[in-house]
Amino acid sequence: MCGIVGYIGYREAYPILIKGLQRLEYRGYDSAGIALLNDNKLNVYKTRGKVSDLIHSVEDKDIIGTIGIAHTRWATHGEPNNVNAHPHCSQSEELAIVHNGIIENYAVLKQGLIEHGYTFSSETDTEVLVQLIEYVKRKNHVDLPTAVQLALNQIVGAYAIAVIEKGHPDIIVAARKGSPLVIGVGDNEYFLASDATPIIEFTHKVVYVGEEEIVVLQRGNELKIKTIGNVEKTPEIKELEMTLSQLEKGGYPHFMLKEIFEQPQTLSDSMRGRINLEENNISLSGFIDHKDKFLNAKRIIITACGTSWHAGLIGMYAIEEFARIPVEVEYSSEFRYRKPVINKDDLVIAISQSGETADTLAAVQLAKSQGAFIFGICNVVGSSIARNTDSGCYTHVGPEIGVASTKAFTAQVTVLIMLALLIGKEKGTLEKEQYLKIVGELAKIPEKISQILKQNDVIAEFSKTFTYAQNFIYLGRGYNYPVALEGALKLKEISYIHAEGLPAAEMKHGPIALISQEMPVVVIAPSAGKYEKVVSNIQEIKARKGRIISIVTEGDVIVKNLSDYIISIPETEECLVPLLAVIPLQLLAYHIAVVKGCDVDQPRNLAKSVTVE
Ligand code: G6P
Repeated sequence: MCGIVGYIGYREAYPILIKGLQRLEYRGYDSAGIALLNDNKLNVYKTRGKVSDLIHSVEDKDIIGTIGIAHTRWATHGEPNNVNAHPHCSQSEELAIVHNGIIENYAVLKQGLIEHGYTFSSETDTEVLVQLIEYVKRKNHVDLPTAVQLALNQIVGAYAIAVIEKGHPDIIVAARKGSPLVIGVGDNEYFLASDATPIIEFTHKVVYVGEEEIVVLQRGNELKIKTIGNVEKTPEIKELEMTLSQLEKGGYPHFMLKEIFEQPQTLSDSMRGRINLEENNISLSGFIDHKDKFLNAKRIIITACGTSWHAGLIGMYAIEEFARIPVEVEYSSEFRYRKPVINKDDLVIAISQSGETADTLAAVQLAKSQGAFIFGICNVVGSSIARNTDSGCYTHVGPEIGVASTKAFTAQVTVLIMLALLIGKEKGTLEKEQYLKIVGELAKIPEKISQILKQNDVIAEFSKTFTYAQNFIYLGRGYNYPVALEGALKLKEISYIHAEGLPAAEMKHGPIALISQEMPVVVIAPSAGKYEKVVSNIQEIKARKGRIISIVTEGDVIVKNLSDYIISIPETEECLVPLLAVIPLQLLAYHIAVVKGCDVDQPRNLAKSVTVE
């Protein structure tokens, strides 16, 4: 988490850095800060709160300078306040640093620095790093790039950093390990940022900084990269595919609503070139190139966090049904630490929207070290997880900015279903006829989502009824159990209402005690799947006067008569129902949060890219 941005060139840095921070604010919004070099002055401004608070706080300040660094924080070490906000300065106030990541050995280093006479004003690990750089620089009489290199050799942990030095307005030193860092290469100017979104409007040429690499961005000079072990690297310039309009709200009040409404398009993008409509055939290059690995896999382990983990569960249902390969779905944070048994003929699928989630990245590295083949399903092109896998498939939904994931989820599910169908077809565990039928249906999903989105106003209206609720229960069976989990997570994330997702039949083993006329229960009850069983579960809720909101297939009568509210979705194949059923749940959470006055795109305490454990 945390976002960093930097600029060196011929333009005023302040507006570029502020706009960059606003683009990166999804990564954390506990505090914001900026450091600018102008002549021989180093001006540092920082404040608790959002970038908008920073803008207010510098209204009468000197913000001149063509070089600067800036930061938006998701607090780890030390509460969110002005002192703990970045940038942090060294004791002499000659160096300023911004940092995304965690310095794990900061306590030991801090003690050593205290013994050398350094004092600290913040509780952060980052202040330790900048003091260390200064200490090393002075002790060894070296320049800034060398001091950063020597200091980083003592660091245990993760970082993307940018450092500037008073009196040296021609140079920024940046480095990364574990946390993402992209350099934008313009004409006589450089940009740096945690992702490409602050860079895109200035240049499409970028360099993704590699693990343990240090970059020197110097006015009038070529980009210089070397590793912290002192190996020189040639910068590899890549062309960005992102467009500026993808980063704007396009008339929607929130990014989340925009992203929910984008799903017909984003799912078409995910399928483009992968589903041949004339032949109803699927082709995934990440599969074709490594077909044997999939066909010979004795077991598939899916590792992910949050919403991506829910997508993984749906993947499990589909892969086991169509490809008949046993699947385990693991929380990356548990998997990486519990000494899992990983065999060489296991295939690991890592799912991550950001491609930067620290636990998922570590899970990938662990599985790789034990010889498993890793397939990545990521959204952010060039991200760390994407680069650490053996093969993969991008979801191609464009930047997802709302902190609560929506369009990334449906695309992850789509990719997993395409993969399951493909393995099943190639292994011969899925009948050709069924394969063709499902592929044909999959291609119709974007249009069916458009139909569901037409009910937005109706959902907005009845959402008002539920803002009183303290708790919600979400129920689903089979493929829709993960959808119930995802619906509950969406509500929790953005409306702060406690919500629990359950397999519908499990309700009677405890949670049924919670049902009363106060308790809204959302039931996913499509005609495909265990319809009659779900109807029985609804009866059980009805008998206890729970308030029922049902997601039903168009034309349904039985569940409609039992429910207080219904939302209809078009008929489809059972394995594809999640792609439709999740849409009304996204809208329900969104509208409840809006009526409650919550900050939908930047919910409290959350961040979109979780680069800490
Ligand atoms: C955070 C986000 C979630 C996301 C999860 C995993 O918690 O707020 O929306 O599902 O991280 O992120 P990833 O980028 O790995 O999919």
